[in-house]
Amino acid sequence: MDITFLLNGETVTAQAAPTVTLLDWLRTERGLNGTKEGCNEGDCGACTVMVTDASGARSLNACILFMGQLAGKAVRTVEGIAGPDGALHPVQQAMVDHHGSQCGFCTPGFVVSMATAHLNGRSDHDDQLAGNLCRCTGYAPIVRAAKAAADAPVPVWMRDTAPDAKTPHAPTSADDLAAWYLDHPNGTLIAGATDVGLWVTKQFRDLGDVAFLHACTDLQTIDVTDNAIRFGAGVTMTQVLDAVAADYPSYAAMIRRYGSVQVRNAATIGGNIANGSPIGDNPPALIALGATLHLRRGDALRDVALQDYFLAYGKQDRQPGEFVTGVTIPRGRDAHRVYKLSKRFDQDISAVCGGFDVTVSDGNVTAACIAFGGMAGVPKRAAAVEAALIGQPWNAQTIADALPAFAADFEPLSDMRASAAYRLEAAQNMLQRYFADLSGVSVNVREVSA
Ligand SMILES: Cc1cc2nc3c(=O)[nH]c(=O)nc-3n(C[C@H](O)[C@H](O)[C@H](O)COP(=O)(O)OP(=O)(O)OC[C@H]3O[C@@H](n4cnc5c(N)ncnc54)[C@H](O)[C@@H]3O)c2cc1C
Ligand code: FES
Ligand code: FES
Repeated sequence: MDITFLLNGETVTAQAAPTVTLLDWLRTERGLNGTKEGCNEGDCGACTVMVTDASGARSLNACILFMGQLAGKAVRTVEGIAGPDGALHPVQQAMVDHHGSQCGFCTPGFVVSMATAHLNGRSDHDDQLAGNLCRCTGYAPIVRAAKAAADAPVPVWMRDTAPDAKTPHAPTSADDLAAWYLDHPNGTLIAGATDVGLWVTKQFRDLGDVAFLHACTDLQTIDVTDNAIRFGAGVTMTQVLDAVAADYPSYAAMIRRYGSVQVRNAATIGGNIANGSPIGDNPPALIALGATLHLRRGDALRDVALQDYFLAYGKQDRQPGEFVTGVTIPRGRDAHRVYKLSKRFDQDISAVCGGFDVTVSDGNVTAACIAFGGMAGVPKRAAAVEAALIGQPWNAQTIADALPAFAADFEPLSDMRASAAYRLEAAQNMLQRYFADLSGVSVNVREVSA
């Protein structure tokens, strides 16, 4: 398949299978070895590249970015960060000046992340670099370098304009996708590829027929009305974070810890729901909000309450040839909170993630919607806990009395992330945290101190 895109300022046409990763292609076909392979699963950022399209420039992990996702885009690798005459980019110069590199294996990825953040005028350096791991230098000199370069003008060569090119494996609308999926009900849909990428790089799976969703722009809209926000399935987690920040700051704070910038720039909300993972972070947050999932098969559209979509481990309420078109949440649920618990603060899969929305009228609980990820084979509501709260006064005694109900709702697993007992206790603690949070006590893990 011919895939035409801009590479470090030059138009190239690659002959590559659509599910070859950009990382492999750069290194084996182009000899561009500056882009490093560390983990090959999106975790370390050593393979970071900058990709520009109509929506702007963003950093992505080349190890889980397929060639089929690149047609009509512009890619800049670390070799394209310095100017054509060899002049260092301001972030490169700052890395030298501030001793930001020792062994250097991580450095190319850092430099591309920093140059992309610099181009986008981002000054939240810790967040921008959370997806880049460095084990030698440590972050202080690197962040010092990012700060030092922040005010330098963006070099002209960094502003790419992508060529007009399309890939044959990418439907350009939901209608096209619906027709393709009816014809290929066993085919694989690829949205951001942050899950599917690992099927190739870690499981060496042959994906068979594939359809890339990135060109279905009608699945990438965010519609905000007075009462609701509707996310198209192809909206990235970076965009979800921005869209919920005003209405649901707790949800936004959780998303800030969802993967890394590179992962959130690729990962879609539809992919996170469709994959049916019991540890996906959106489902508990969205179920607590009473979200509605929108599905389509051919011309048939249907809606399902998100909480009913997850039937059993690995089994969702989705027919062959049916896909997720979007998800809708209400606005104005001021008591909504989400808490993510993981071993590492940034860029780690949750051991437990809890979504809460309790309604209190005249001091009594009148409604409760509480959902957890990581506590069962599916994202699941805590029905017994909710029942223990409803009708009771909203106070510490009611919370204490409700804690035993967790054992009726959940029999969590023990795995490498947490033991069953730890998960149960953590979920109970989250309910107490929620009560403290709504009572005005600071529960931000970065602010709480002994
Ligand atoms: C390093 C790393 C960190 C991560 N951190 C987190 C985290 O903190 N929290 C978290 O929840 N997840 C995390 N993930 C998992 C992943 O990023 C999310 O599940 C992501 O949202 C998946 O979206 P995607 O667009 O990349 O899906 P893809 O990989 O493209 O697809 C995932 C699945 O959904 C299907 N699919 C995609 N779109 C549709 C659609 N519209 N209709 C029907 N089926 C569809 C695909 O066929 C596939 O089965 C992480 C992943 C990586 C690699
Ligand atoms: S090689 Fe680690 S994120 Fe790509
Ligand atoms: S300098 Fe060695 S890993 Fe960062």
